[in-house]
Amino acid sequence: MIKQYIEDKTCVIKIDRPKYLNALNIELLEKLKEIYLKYQNSNNVRTFILTGHGDKAFIAGADIKSMYSMSKHEAHSFSKLGNDLTLQIENCSKPTICAINGFALGGGCELAMACHLRVASENAVFGQPESGLGLIPGFGGTQRLPRLVGLTNAYKILLSGSLIKSQQAFNIGLVSDIFEQKNLLNEAMKIASNINSKSSNATKYIIKSVNEGISLDISKALELETLYFKKIFEHEDRKIGISSFLQKKEPKFSGQ
Ligand code: CAA
Repeated sequence: MIKQYIEDKTCVIKIDRPKYLNALNIELLEKLKEIYLKYQNSNNVRTFILTGHGDKAFIAGADIKSMYSMSKHEAHSFSKLGNDLTLQIENCSKPTICAINGFALGGGCELAMACHLRVASENAVFGQPESGLGLIPGFGGTQRLPRLVGLTNAYKILLSGSLIKSQQAFNIGLVSDIFEQKNLLNEAMKIASNINSKSSNATKYIIKSVNEGISLDISKALELETLYFKKIFEHEDRKIGISSFLQKKEPKFSGQ
């Protein structure tokens, strides 16, 4: 159901439920939470890559069949489980690069939007088709989509339920890069390896400052940035970074 391995301090997570185009059920959501819990404070992991097995689907949404017989209370728990996972990914001090290798629909698009970076293969397809199922998105789609692509694009995608291809997703800022399918994971690894070479403290405080500041008014958000700018001076990494620059050599950060 999930394949996971660590390579050069990057934890690669592959959703592997091909018969259902990697659709998310409760078991899969819980397994993903476990993996993040296990590695979010591990010294062996600096970044995560989240992707789907095969070349057809990243995740084609929440498991539709399992939702047919759900009571409203079960639906509440299902949405909460999904949304807790999206917050766990988003607030993790180690960034996740989502490598979208095909359909990213409904809950799949929502999981991708909780990641810090999204790169896609040329054949990837995005959308929130819930309205056509008589549903609304339940893993953050109504909240993160407008924040990422603006109200105009978000309403168009949410209300129409229509699907968009990689190029359009790139044009509206939903993904940062498009790669050939065969190179997607390799390119995601290159992005991860670049992040891994930077100060882990800087990575952590960038994520905290962005996440905590985004919903504040600008003056409060800038106060927060100033606070974290001060905090980063408590760490040895900034001495290593600045002295390496001055000595014209590559920094080797200690993470202290
Ligand atoms: N849940 C469960 N099973 C799914 C699924 C899903 N989200 N998406 C696809 N599958 C299953 C299909 O039922 C099919 O199974 P069978 O062979 O047993 O019939 C198998 O995967 C292959 O799918 P298709 O034959 O449909 O493949 P296709 O290439 O013709 O179409 C597709 C691909 C356009 C992605 C189509 O499968 C599709 O529209 N899937 C549903 C997408 C969707 O509506 N996602 C939103 C779910 S709701 C949600 O996510 C709510 C939330 O926010 C929490």
